Amino acid sequence: MFKILDKVELCPKIFRFRIEASKIVSKALPGQFVILRQNERGERVPMSIGGLDKENGILTVVIQEVGKTSASMNQMKTGDSFLDVVGPLGLPTHSENFGRCVCIGGGVGIPPIYPIAQGLKAAGNKVETIIGARTKDLLIYQEELTEASDILHIATDDGSFGTHGFVTTILEKLCEDGTPIDFIMCVGPVPMMRAVAEATRAKKIKTWCSLNPIMVDGTGMCGACRVTVGGNTKFACVDGPDFDAHEVDFGEMTSRLKMYHSQEKVAYDRFLEHKGDCKCQQASSDE
Ligand code: NAD
Ligand code: FES
Repeated sequence: MFKILDKVELCPKIFRFRIEASKIVSKALPGQFVILRQNERGERVPMSIGGLDKENGILTVVIQEVGKTSASMNQMKTGDSFLDVVGPLGLPTHSENFGRCVCIGGGVGIPPIYPIAQGLKAAGNKVETIIGARTKDLLIYQEELTEASDILHIATDDGSFGTHGFVTTILEKLCEDGTPIDFIMCVGPVPMMRAVAEATRAKKIKTWCSLNPIMVDGTGMCGACRVTVGGNTKFACVDGPDFDAHEVDFGEMTSRLKMYHSQEKVAYDRFLEHKGDCKCQQASSDE
């Protein structure tokens, strides 16, 4: 069992969980992920690592309510426990000394950028971080990323805070400021990662992204997380989750992510309808 040491609402429907997981934390590196299961009948949910407190053995994950299982997890309280946390899974993010690095996080892709920025800074890089959200109320991890970065840039789609525009609005300016960028790492929605790749392709800036396809086992056996990179089939759980963004087939990734949308919607609607009075809150695979 993995105890929740504290749970904080960062913004509506987005919660930060700090979980006791000393063995995982002692081995985990920035860019890796874990798979959580709420209870014995629960769905296995891959989650990016949003913080590693090595000293105290505490793992941070940030969960956004997007469907039945995430809604059910977000009802858990401080003191409750996840049945399983499996990890660390996947390969860590490149964290060599590149020189000038730009870390980019969009929406709930912001938390995993935090340990990545910390790792790149520890390797001696100059780290500039760009975070973006639809509006200022959805901006998260500003304090953490101010500490982990040499410079933090912020964009909101509606201009309510920071630069008015997308993360790529800021990236395009950084690419033109006369100092070469040696490495870019981005985590966020697929359209964002695709736009970042297109903004840097012609400039040949080394640009990597963290992919989050549907996963089941997380160990390379089921094939659910298949992605195409450079014309080759890769399994994001063992070959990734990070890949060269200039080589990723984002179109295929987008359509594979939509495969179970209608079933997911039915399960989520039923969960909301039965809230508080339904076994499905405890048993996520009942549907
Ligand atoms: P969102 O749609 O609110 O977008 C967040 C920000 O991304 C925007 O404010 C903008 O700056 C940027 N963005 C979005 N579309 C863009 C485009 N077309 N061009 C340029 N920039 C664009 O994000 P959300 O609703 O919080 O969703 C975050 C996504 O991140 C989810 O799809 C989630 O699955 C994904 N995610 C991925 C990982 C991973 O490991 N890859 C980890 C956590 C979350
Ligand atoms: Fe099964 Fe990657 S999740 S192969």
